[in-house]
Amino acid sequence: MNEHLLRSLLNLEAERCIDRIQLFDEIDSTNSEALRELRAGSTENRVVIADSQTSGRGRRGREWHSPKNSGIYLSLTRAFSEPASALQGLSLTTAISVVEALEELGVSGLQLKWPNDVLCKDKKLAGILLELQSIEDARYVVFGVGINRELSADAAQRIDRPVTDLRSIVGEPIAPDSIVAALLNRLCLNLKTYESSGFARFEDRWNSLDCYRMRDIVIQNGESRIIGKSLGVDSTGALLLETAEGIQSISGGEVLPSLRPIPDGMKQK
Ligand code: BTN
Repeated sequence: MNEHLLRSLLNLEAERCIDRIQLFDEIDSTNSEALRELRAGSTENRVVIADSQTSGRGRRGREWHSPKNSGIYLSLTRAFSEPASALQGLSLTTAISVVEALEELGVSGLQLKWPNDVLCKDKKLAGILLELQSIEDARYVVFGVGINRELSADAAQRIDRPVTDLRSIVGEPIAPDSIVAALLNRLCLNLKTYESSGFARFEDRWNSLDCYRMRDIVIQNGESRIIGKSLGVDSTGALLLETAEGIQSISGGEVLPSLRPIPDGMKQK
């Protein structure tokens, strides 16, 4: 990937909001590098991109398998003046941005799984890991995005869940620079909207892409499991779950499909 070419593909908003782009052949994790820079006092809006990661990190302490020439591994750092409580819709907004960027490149059939997995035909295409760092009065968010571009059969086998990649969906390769530019362009525009209007502007878009909406699901959070019917997200990005005890607002946990329909009286913890 070439910084000059990448910069030439950025729109005005992305140009405005990105101070620095760093490209690495290999790094432990682009998120870790972005956090190291922040903790060292370098608080500019930065994009870190790597061809491969040796310790790519996923949500819930999982590994994000990141072999060379197989995926997009990118982290954007950005400062926010809002309190941390107002930032909870950011990870969902990032997932919408990934879908919109890929749709612009001709990828169709994409769906979202709360809070921020991008799927195609029930297989995971992209994952998002947001990390918050507060320094003095400011909050910095590291937006980590991993997109499977072209996984080898061996790489796909090493991942413990069904996965897909752009090459299989589109049938031909898409240049990494185009993917990164489309993502940064869309993400910077959507973050600007988020800063002015919050998640409410994205609520309908999210619900239209949610593959589990109006389906019976299980929310797993540590040892706790809640079952119910997903009603989609509210204007803050929380997941609304219809249970026997009423509608619960869920702000953490993992969505699992319910293997069989849940009888109405059983939709409870
Ligand atoms: C998930 O578990 O779905 C989130 C995966 C996030 C992976 C990306 S790749 C770029 C950035 N650097 C990391 O170490 N993780 C994120």
